[in-house]
Amino acid sequence: MTIGIPKEIKNNESRVGMTPAGVFELTKRNHTVYVQKEAGEGSGFSNLDYENVGAIILDSIQQVYQSSDMIVKVKEPIAEEYDLIQPRQIVFTYFHFASSERLTLAMLKSKAICIAYETVEDEDGTLPLLTPMSEVAGRMAIQQGAKYLEKPIKGRGVLLGGVPGVPPGKVLVLGAGVVGIQAAKMAAGLGAHVTILDVNMKRLRYVNDVMPSHVVTEFSNEFNVRKHIQTHDLIVGGVLIKGAKAPKLITKDMLKNMRPGTVLVDVAVDQGGCMETTKVTTHENPTFIVDDIVHYGVANMPGAVPYTSTLALTNVTLPYVIKLADKGWKQACQDDKTLARGLNIVEGEVVYKEISEAFGWENTSVN
Ligand SMILES: NC(=O)c1ccc[n+]([C@@H]2O[C@H](COP(=O)([O-])OP(=O)(O)OC[C@H]3O[C@@H](n4cnc5c(N)ncnc54)[C@H](O)[C@@H]3O)[C@@H](O)[C@H]2O)c1
Repeated sequence: MTIGIPKEIKNNESRVGMTPAGVFELTKRNHTVYVQKEAGEGSGFSNLDYENVGAIILDSIQQVYQSSDMIVKVKEPIAEEYDLIQPRQIVFTYFHFASSERLTLAMLKSKAICIAYETVEDEDGTLPLLTPMSEVAGRMAIQQGAKYLEKPIKGRGVLLGGVPGVPPGKVLVLGAGVVGIQAAKMAAGLGAHVTILDVNMKRLRYVNDVMPSHVVTEFSNEFNVRKHIQTHDLIVGGVLIKGAKAPKLITKDMLKNMRPGTVLVDVAVDQGGCMETTKVTTHENPTFIVDDIVHYGVANMPGAVPYTSTLALTNVTLPYVIKLADKGWKQACQDDKTLARGLNIVEGEVVYKEISEAFGWENTSVN
């Protein structure tokens, strides 16, 4: 099969769909891999790194799309890419169709086979191609939060780890899922006192078993949230109710009960945020202040650490890329139910019912 790796052109996206290690696995199996010139640069991979493992470097994005049976990338195609996609071409990437009718219509029109990373789903309901990005975001939440707690950037002026003779800072983590556990782990590693809340007792039992004793679990309810926001310096929002908007656990009226300079990092911002005053921000301008409380609401946190994120993402996508390349999409999806759940649009038809439901469409086809 011919596989194309275009350079990401979405604003501020430096990740790339495949590392040289991934290309090596494909060329070893006699597949042809086209990589757009400088596609890997933002993630630390040069053209030569790719050429050394057998990739062919192409000058333009047009050439990559025109030459490839399958496109492997990171972000959903943006408007400039819509017309580049070929009929019956496999496009394997994050799509998040339900949030964009325009993208959905464009992909229907392209007659491509769109396999979405975010809906590749294991038997137990876990989403293996989303997990690594939640891991990155959870860990980053503490790094960012610690920085914004500094006084010159309007934080409380608290050092999370404290020093001998001065108690450590306090971190409240909402949600003990992938984001929450990684955040708790990083905060605990810095020496902070951590409180982690969830409504799922299984998650809390797990955290209680594996974390050190300065990570304290508590059931999530409004009473406990109102109590803890008064004394915690950094609050990380990592709650998720699958397929729904995040519940607003922190409402605007609660801000007045926090100490000025408290930092809120709402990782769940991509699902609407679990804090009422959250707005989506960017890496250029990550924070804003409401009632003396610092808010951080970057929706693509992993984009700031493209080297780590590219490796983390391609570690989990590569096994599926190999299956698709070796067998073609039909056979690969027949043999692997986890991958088959990633099929969203096939040659002009929506095959993932939640997408049609999101737009209230009865007809799933443009034919
Ligand atoms: N901003 C970013 O760059 C970025 C990156 C990755 C993930 N995310 C987002 O982070 C969020 C969390 O992702 P995840 O992978 O950790 O999800 P997850 O499903 O692993 O964990 C979510 C947790 O929230 C808990 N929860 C649900 N309702 C709750 C409540 N009322 N109180 C406390 N906990 C509650 C669930 O029980 C679950 O344990 C998602 O919205 C995801 O899209 C954002």
